[in-house]
Amino acid sequence: MRDATPGQDQSVHLKDYAPVPVTVTHVDLHFRLDPLATRVQARLTCERRGPGAMVLNGEDLETVSLAIDGTPLGADAYTLDGDTLTLHETPDAFLLETEVTIAPETNKALSGLYMSNGMYCTQCEAEGFRRITWMLDRPDVMATYDVEIDADLPVLLSNGDEVGQGRWHDPWPKPTYLFALVAGNLVATSDSFTTMEGREVALNIWVRPGDEGRTAYAMDSLKRSMAWDERVYGRAYDLSVFNIVAVDDFNMGAMENKGLNIFNSRYVLASPETATDADYANIERIVAHEYFHNWTGNRITCRDWFQLCLKEGLTVFRDQQFSQDERGAAVQRIGDVMALRARQFREDAGPLAHPVRPESFVEINNFYTSTIYEKGAEVIGMLRTFVGAEGYDAGVALYFQRHDGDAATIEDWLRCFEEATGRDLSQFKLWYSQAGTPRVKVEEHWDGSTYRIELAQHVPDTPGQTDRAPMVIPLAFGLLDASGAEIRATEVHALTKVTDSLSFDLPARPVLSILRGFSAPVILGFEQSDADRLTLLAHDTDPFARWEAGRALAKDRLMRALTQDAPFDDAWLDAVATLATDDTAAPAFRALALALPSEEDLAGSLHVAGVVPDPDRIYAMRRSAQLAIAERLSPAMSDLRAACTTPGPYDPCAEDAGKRALSGRLLGLRTLIDGGEAARAAYAAADNMTDRMAAFACLLEANDDEIAAAFEADWKHDRLVMDKWFTAQVIHAAPRDAVAVAERLVRHPDFDASNPNRFRAVVGALAAGNPAGFHNPSGAGYAFLARHLLALDPVNPQTAARLSQAFDTWRRYDADRQALIETELKRMAGTEGLSRDLDEMVGRMLP
Ligand code: TRP
Ligand code: ZN
Repeated sequence: MRDATPGQDQSVHLKDYAPVPVTVTHVDLHFRLDPLATRVQARLTCERRGPGAMVLNGEDLETVSLAIDGTPLGADAYTLDGDTLTLHETPDAFLLETEVTIAPETNKALSGLYMSNGMYCTQCEAEGFRRITWMLDRPDVMATYDVEIDADLPVLLSNGDEVGQGRWHDPWPKPTYLFALVAGNLVATSDSFTTMEGREVALNIWVRPGDEGRTAYAMDSLKRSMAWDERVYGRAYDLSVFNIVAVDDFNMGAMENKGLNIFNSRYVLASPETATDADYANIERIVAHEYFHNWTGNRITCRDWFQLCLKEGLTVFRDQQFSQDERGAAVQRIGDVMALRARQFREDAGPLAHPVRPESFVEINNFYTSTIYEKGAEVIGMLRTFVGAEGYDAGVALYFQRHDGDAATIEDWLRCFEEATGRDLSQFKLWYSQAGTPRVKVEEHWDGSTYRIELAQHVPDTPGQTDRAPMVIPLAFGLLDASGAEIRATEVHALTKVTDSLSFDLPARPVLSILRGFSAPVILGFEQSDADRLTLLAHDTDPFARWEAGRALAKDRLMRALTQDAPFDDAWLDAVATLATDDTAAPAFRALALALPSEEDLAGSLHVAGVVPDPDRIYAMRRSAQLAIAERLSPAMSDLRAACTTPGPYDPCAEDAGKRALSGRLLGLRTLIDGGEAARAAYAAADNMTDRMAAFACLLEANDDEIAAAFEADWKHDRLVMDKWFTAQVIHAAPRDAVAVAERLVRHPDFDASNPNRFRAVVGALAAGNPAGFHNPSGAGYAFLARHLLALDPVNPQTAARLSQAFDTWRRYDADRQALIETELKRMAGTEGLSRDLDEMVGRMLP
């Protein structure tokens, strides 16, 4: 429980937005770095904009002095009250000078200025700047910066252009959350890029000495991102230098600070021996994401944190477009949809559901969610589908031209599209305010000459929201004939009413391919026949719809097996085998087609169907489906695996990665039959971490009791590889052993709860990567998670709160499990001194 005044609402509301009465236009900072007593002198150029007192934010600051225009403030000129500094009377224009001391060494929250392996670094989004000095710590206050860093360290970095040793000037007005400072013993990999405007930009990737051999892929990704943003969005970079720094202790993936991006080292460092194909793909995507923020986020920022999706949804959409262009659209889109369903649909179905633009929050860090990011990106994609590619380009161009330098809102964004296209987007805007995943029911009717599709939409209730208005749902669809030939190419029907219908006069009943490309983030209720799905799986021209048909068949089988003990039928197994062995289809696509719906996905679907999910039964049933597929593929297995070999040395390119993905999938199936024989050979032969991890996972699943020690002996020295070692053991433990494995690993000498990567590698892996283990009927998994969250909360509340989301599906389960989880949630809620972050999360999850 937090110490709050009873009855006092601690939440912030969108409707209460008001601009500041006094703003800051320039910030001049001087740092004298010291682990326990860093001195920060700030000179803020302030200007009155309206009536009212100036209220600055500060947290954990030791205030040394305060002065206005050179005169120290008298005791009655200000009020220092907890986390605010109020200046009662100020001139219309003045210089506010403050001096504070802070202790970066003891800052384990990884917010503000902190230390990681002896290096100083910052994280200011969302509200970390107030932990550095007194300031108006909100995104609508944009200022230019001069920074001077005084420290006996070789590398001293901040935003903008370097104007002297440890002196930086950032000419682009920015909000506090984009401020950054880095100081330490770092080495750079350097390169350069010439912009389309002819500007030469120095590119540096800064890492700890010894890691410089692992930066090449991040640098290559950066240069391709810069070129792509010029080519596709017409956006060029705007400073003489672009720095990226890799940091080991980091709460999230990376941060788009102006000209000085700071990354979790796992999203920078890669070599074939230490990184998997998934790591390479993540590095490429996240480097692009942070770089793209320079225009969507930095040059145009958010007026307030309720507008977070304005920068995040748009920037995710842009990084998804980039990855589609760089790696192939079909496989990228399927992967993005799988991630959306796994994280956002789950969030939308539970107690933490919220709109893409929330209307209130207690702690903004709790709203860096899948809904803001991934659903936010889907909304941009739908907008593009709805107004067309040309309309989208025109709207975006107007947005950049009109709002460059602004702190903008969703209304500003949508107005650009209305003006550029003449379309009315008032109904479309509901996507920003209505939470919940819409259901679209599809029914087909054939009367011998007319084919009719009946559509109906429904938005389920979410916390605080009922009786919703119908949304605009762009449905991309096409029609095939019974032989699989396309008789109508893709067109988009925008469903805008609760019910609607479409009719076609045709000589024969067609096969409907609907929600092509996943044109809207909805759940389809469409009981399509097996025959039609098999036709789509074999012939659809839209790769997403083709994959989706296979997924629907698999899900249907698993659901019937779980609820009616139905056996896996030959027609399905034959279809799976046909696709797996179809060498005209890309290996990456075939690997995706072989992946069964996840345990989580099945649990959610059972719940929607009114059945209480049993995690052990789901685990066992998925395994027997995999075994059935493995047996069906067995005769072709060696040929199939041989066809997956890649020529030459390891190359992270999408084509080779696709072959390795299929190869890994096949090895998993093979292991179910041979008990690990093939995996043991693959482990010994692996010359890259992708193949090695695939074999390692198989051997853990096969209960090989020597492989973990062997892996550890080889990789003990490498922190990023050891994260994988910790995670794999938890994820691939048998459900009944998973908690014991996690308990053993948190006692390992290399376990370090204060490092978020390592904490997630064990605690997060149990909570999110081994559902049947986490939901062990004894409640041991729940107790394990709650105990570690409570231990982490006083140190790093952001990460503790983020991982607490693992409990958000608790209402799906049986009464015994619900009671066990409720006990843990209540125990957390009742803990004295709980952080605002974790308190808000458990409060929202409790009834
Ligand atoms: N803005 C960052 C991004 O999307 C994410 C971010 C928000 C973040 N808050 C953070 C990163 C705190 C690290 C720590 O890329
Ligand atoms: Zn972002």
